[in-house]
This record gives sequence, C-alpha cells and structure tokens, in this order.
Amino acid sequence: MEDLDSLTASLLAEIARTDSAAALEELRVSALGKKGTITGMMKTLGAMDAEERKVKGAAFNAAKDRIAAALDARKAELGARELDARLAFERVDVTLPVRHEAQGRIHPVSQVTEEITAIFADMGFTVAEGPDVEDDWHNFTALNIPPNHPARQMHDTFYLPSRAADAQSKAGEKGETMLLRTHTSPVQIRHMQSGPPPHRIIAPGRTYRCDSDMTHTPMFHQVEGLVIDRDIHMGHLKGCLEEFLRAIFGVPDLKYRLRPSHFPFTEPSAEMDIGCSRKGGVLKIGEGDDWLEILGCGMVHPKVLEYAGVDPNVWQGFAFGLGIDRIAMLKYGIPDLRAFFEADVRWLRHYGFPANDVPSLATGLNR
Ligand code: PHE
Repeated sequence: MEDLDSLTASLLAEIARTDSAAALEELRVSALGKKGTITGMMKTLGAMDAEERKVKGAAFNAAKDRIAAALDARKAELGARELDARLAFERVDVTLPVRHEAQGRIHPVSQVTEEITAIFADMGFTVAEGPDVEDDWHNFTALNIPPNHPARQMHDTFYLPSRAADAQSKAGEKGETMLLRTHTSPVQIRHMQSGPPPHRIIAPGRTYRCDSDMTHTPMFHQVEGLVIDRDIHMGHLKGCLEEFLRAIFGVPDLKYRLRPSHFPFTEPSAEMDIGCSRKGGVLKIGEGDDWLEILGCGMVHPKVLEYAGVDPNVWQGFAFGLGIDRIAMLKYGIPDLRAFFEADVRWLRHYGFPANDVPSLATGLNR
C-alpha cells in the first residue's frame, strides 16, 4: 500500500509539472497504458486471495481514478492555455485599412451589371438567364419577327452551321436554325414559358451582332427587363425607368424623354433619351440641351404573350432593353468600346474596380 501511495503522489506531482500535451500523453501511457506502472499493480491482483484482492482492488481503482482525473484536468488546463496563446497570436486588427496591393480588377461591364442588378433588385426584380446560342424561334419568331421580316436583316445575325443529322429528324420543328442571340429579348419568351405570371425580371447577358467600330463590337452586353401583371401600363414603365436612370447615373433630377419608336415585339414602342451636353466635344450626362438615346422599350405585344403561352386578355406588361457597355462608357467616360474586350491589363488597371468594392445601394453606386 505504501508503494501505491508514493507512486500516486509522485505521478500527481509530475502531472502538475507537465507543460505540454505531448508530455502529458507520455505520462498517461507510462502510468495507465498497457505496460504502465498502475496497470502493472492491477495485474498483481490475480495472485491475491479474495480478502486481500477486495481491499487492494478498491485502493488501486481509487488511485487509478485520481490519476486519470488529474490527467484530464491538466489536459484541459493546457488546452485552454494553448488556445489563449493562439488567439493572442492570430488576433486581427479590424481597424487597420484594407490591403491596397491587390492586383485583380473588376471589369467595368461586370461592375455596371452589378450596379444595374442592385437597382432593379431594390425594385423587386429577380435575375433571369437564357442561352447565348439561341434558336431562331425564340430570337425572332416568338418576338413577332416572322421569317423574311426586314428586322431580321437589321440584326446582322451570326447563324450557326446547321446540324445536318439533327435537321433530318427535326425538320419542320420550330427552332431548328441556331444562331447567336442578337438581343436579350428571347429571355422574355423563355421566362414566360417557365411559369405562370406575374413576372418581374431583368436578364443581363452577352449578345452578338456582326458589327465592329468605335461603338460596336461583335459581342456586347444587354439587360432585358420584363414586367407582366394584370394592370400594368405605360405609366409604370415610365416610373420604373426614370427611377433606374436617376439611380445609375446618380443625377436626382435627370432630364429624359420618351420618344415614339418601333419594335415588332412591343406596341406601343418607345425609345428613351436622357439630357446631355456635347459642348467642346465632351459628353456630359445630366446637363445641357442635347439628347442621348439610351434604351428601347414598350408594352409587350399581345402576339408575343400568345407565343409565350400567356393570355393577353388577362395579362399585360412592359419590356425594355438597354446596352450595358454603353452605360459603362457613359458613366465612366470610357471612349472606345473595342478596348473593353482586348484584355489589356493596363486598360483594366486604369478603368477597372477594386475587387472588394461590391456595388450596393446602401454604400452608394456613384463613387
Ligand atoms: N431588343 C431590343 C434591341 O435589342 C430592345 C428592346 C427590348 C426594345 C425590349 C423594346 C423592348 O434593340
């Protein structure tokens, strides 16, 4: 019994002195492991008679429990100390300025797309998408542009080589001619087909036309807007776009006008101009007596609703389409559209936006 007491005492003292989790584990193995000192003592129980075994067994077990408890307590203590040390070492000073050496920049098109999305999200719009490779039916026919309609020529369409094998089996079926969508308007159709009204969406994305100069590139970006409900009228269209234009350009009393126009898929149709000045060859938004065309819009044509499976006697609404790249050029004073897609890092460093500067209405869109 004396052996046991002194062994227990020396183990407890050692446990208290131990300073690392690893050393503590070694100590546990040397006492309680298979070949440990305490375990060794337990093994002597087998050779004892019943009376002795009862007394010593109880004592061994009590010692074993004390040591195990001491090991656990010390382990918890060391763990807490290690955590404190790590927390002190890894502490982040949130009051320090953000890192400025980040190299990546957000492209103006992405930035403006985010800005537009933030504004319309605030008005209750959700974002819809459609494919870049579109069929003729969604891009034209369902938008009330039948085959041989002159509007098809105006769109400078990139047609894709017909899929000969496919065409055999699908001949005559709508949409066998594939093309690169010339506008985001086919997303109107796809969205209306995807579920019942009401609808309130915007659809940003890439569009393609065979055209290239200072202000045109074969690939460019549009945002489509579509609102379908029971009592929608031109007043809603006007209010919605007014709100949008003022928010995106950050000019609270921005001058604009709606001018009658024509699109096969809207009736009536209009184009929206915003007030600007071109004095000295410099374009300025929100001042002067000049006008700049900014978007196309109108009330969705009943035939388009029918094509998309919506009853025009119950539902009506408006649609609009505008060029994202053009807004980016205007808003951020970028002169040549072609540079947008040349992937020149120096250009991006100059016109791009910091990666952590996510546009939101709360922080302001016009910095
Ligand atoms: N799709 C038209 C274009 O690309 C724009 C537009 C969209 C006009 C929706 C009216 C309604 O020019």
